[in-house]
Amino acid sequence: MSANPITASAIAKVVSAALAQIAEAADLSKLKAIRGAVVGDQSPIHTMNASLRDLAPEFKAEAGALVGKARGEINAAYAAAEAVFAAAEERAKLAAERVDMTAVATRIPLGARHPLSLLQDQISDIFIGMGWEIAEGPELEHEWFNFDALNFDADHPARAMQDTFFVDPVESHLVLRTHTSPVQVRSLLERELPVYVLCPGRVFRTDELDATHTPVFHQVEGLAIDKGLTMADLRGTLEHFARSMFGPEAQIRLRPSFFPFTEPSAELDVWHPGAKGGARWVEWGGCGMVNPNVLRAAGIDPEQYQGFAFGMGIERTLMFRNDVKDMHDMVEADVRFSQQFGVNL
Ligand code: PHE
Repeated sequence: MSANPITASAIAKVVSAALAQIAEAADLSKLKAIRGAVVGDQSPIHTMNASLRDLAPEFKAEAGALVGKARGEINAAYAAAEAVFAAAEERAKLAAERVDMTAVATRIPLGARHPLSLLQDQISDIFIGMGWEIAEGPELEHEWFNFDALNFDADHPARAMQDTFFVDPVESHLVLRTHTSPVQVRSLLERELPVYVLCPGRVFRTDELDATHTPVFHQVEGLAIDKGLTMADLRGTLEHFARSMFGPEAQIRLRPSFFPFTEPSAELDVWHPGAKGGARWVEWGGCGMVNPNVLRAAGIDPEQYQGFAFGMGIERTLMFRNDVKDMHDMVEADVRFSQQFGVNL
């Protein structure tokens, strides 16, 4: 009878070698790398277990029990080490992904709409509410629309170089429009009568930027041409406009004036009840009954159709309505200025 080759001490050796290898593994990847060698098909304990097959029957039961227990021990040690490393790895991952709920957030500033745009929209809404339409025209305008069709004489001082940006070459007769009034003639040529249009837009004059001037600014132009319109319609429209803008106590005042494209012409003042330092009259814009020559330039018979026009600066309106003292604030586009006006004025 041969001796039992799978002795308790042989088993104990295999177990302690395996446990030592497991203990040596410093992290999960190292542990996984020795998996085959300590618990897998190539491991000594596995080979020993397989060799039970060849054992003499009288040793099988005892040796089988011992090897089974040893396998269990090695597997348990491996699983325990694996669990420890997995937990450590999970903790490290969570720590790395930790979100500090108390940290001050770095917000992406959303910006704000420019108050001039808000005001322009608000003015447009007032007129849309009366059934008017919004009209647009080009900023680079033909001299004919900007001056001639509006009844400016060839030698009218406003054409002089110090007011108007002329565009090279001079023969192109192009200018940066000096007011929104050229849209009057464009609208009359493009549209069916009657015409009730409001044209907000950018205009240009050769002014230096200072507290009250800017070479690029905005105007809003109104034009109404219909049968039988009178100065009373102009007054009523402007009064409604003023009250919508400045409150129910607002009043308007017309002072005789001159524009080539209106006759009679008037300066428009508004009694601004909300003015800082007390209610007062403020110069707001120009207006008048459309000059028959303008209607003729647009091919309209002034005997049949009449109407009125008005125009005012949007920067100026914002300045006195919101007590903005310096034009620089409006042109510099610093978001901190715009944010004061919120989303709606
Ligand atoms: N276009 C004129 C200006 O820029 C304003 C105006 C518009 C006057 C319409 C009368 C009628 O000063």
